[in-house]
Amino acid sequence: MTQNNNGQFPPGFLWGAATAAYQVEGAASEDGRKDSIWDTFARVPGAVANGDNGDVACDHYHRLDEDVALMQSLNLASYRFSTSWARIRPDGGAVNPAGLDFYSRLTDKLLDAGIKPWLTLYHWDLPQALQDAGGWANRDTAYRFAEYALSVHDVLGDRVQAWTTLNEPWCSAYVGYASGEHAPGLQDRSQAVAANHHLLLAHGLAAQELRARDAALELGLTLNFTVADPLDPQNPDDVDAARRIDGQFNRVFADPVFRGQYPEDVLADLAPYGLQGHIRDGDLAAISTPIDFLGVNYYHGEAVTKTEPAVAITTAAPSARPTASPYPAADGVYTVPRGLPVTNMGWEIQPEGLHRLLMRLQREYTGPAGVKLYITENGAAFDDDEVVDGVVRDEDRLGFIEAHLAAVQQAAADGVDVRGYFAWSLMDNFEWAWGYAKRFGIVHVDYATQQRTPKASGRWFAEVARANELPE
Ligand code: NOJ
Repeated sequence: MTQNNNGQFPPGFLWGAATAAYQVEGAASEDGRKDSIWDTFARVPGAVANGDNGDVACDHYHRLDEDVALMQSLNLASYRFSTSWARIRPDGGAVNPAGLDFYSRLTDKLLDAGIKPWLTLYHWDLPQALQDAGGWANRDTAYRFAEYALSVHDVLGDRVQAWTTLNEPWCSAYVGYASGEHAPGLQDRSQAVAANHHLLLAHGLAAQELRARDAALELGLTLNFTVADPLDPQNPDDVDAARRIDGQFNRVFADPVFRGQYPEDVLADLAPYGLQGHIRDGDLAAISTPIDFLGVNYYHGEAVTKTEPAVAITTAAPSARPTASPYPAADGVYTVPRGLPVTNMGWEIQPEGLHRLLMRLQREYTGPAGVKLYITENGAAFDDDEVVDGVVRDEDRLGFIEAHLAAVQQAAADGVDVRGYFAWSLMDNFEWAWGYAKRFGIVHVDYATQQRTPKASGRWFAEVARANELPE
């Protein structure tokens, strides 16, 4: 490793925080919005902890002024949010101008406050009408996505520069269609594999269309990555376990985007579920349309093995419904706790994994393609979130973010072209199958009063963002 530049980040490093539409907006049936798959799923008994849903969430829809002021007070240079497809094309078809207007107002307020809008087109809330037609298992959804992307660009293209197509398509495909812990809650491996390809196709079609009409936009995709280590690197079974998880989590998305092909081993592993049959001429060319940045969401790594005793790999959601593995190609692969400290989600805290991941991405994918890296999500849920005399002493979260920022900073010093970091999340919000039971915010939300209180981590983050360096 080279020296670490005394904790300094590269000049112009972008500091931000992230949310997603269904997790914060509320206003679930206002101004023409209709159900997304998450509205439907949240009504299924046992699907979401405590029967929670996103009907009100953080009421962000009605609190734009307050929330943009909050971002300013935290010295954020950028706000990563997603647009709700179910607001903008409520049935998946005709455009609802009132839905678009909300994002237009948000964009104006951000720009007035000097905050760069970082827009994600899909953060998991497919219009229910499109799910009724097969959802991501249906190829047609990819074409509907490209239309939707253009309709958002019609209205925001003059003011928004940074466009992300999808957030974490792995979750959409495999947690939604294979494990059943997320909407639409299916457990069908063939549909999950179809969804994998159609999500990538949706990204590619939208990327082609957006590029064709707007040469100035910054275009990217956010993937979630895991760093899967073989429990015993000398044991060939453990090495194969790590290969399978890496293949089905990381490479099955990154290879088509950066290399225009699926990895041979993953194609073989997924053959029983028909991946190859979904690939048509031109698909991989679309999927590998050049992008400007790769968004990286990183929370944890894991040690994997095929030898019991170990813990079955799930997303550890609290579903009262039976769930299945999100890895069709990794039956019999287990994760083994390594004795590292864990967050409140049970995820191992492994900042060193982020450094390794960034080095690998730069070497194998983004570096050769001249693509910039942004950490589009990193953060943690912890239990230390009580407001006492107006203060939340969330030292665990602060330490988590600090350690991961140090890993990012080190990667930059080691030559990785990493340009920014978005904390997950700006504020506590609807944590999917966990509902409101898990808090990731650097700002505390009292859901009874909608009072926002910056946590110690948020105040600390604001200082780091201002200084563009980690304190000694
Ligand atoms: C990734 C997802 O993009 C986000 O929506 C979620 O809340 C965080 N991970 C934490 O689980």
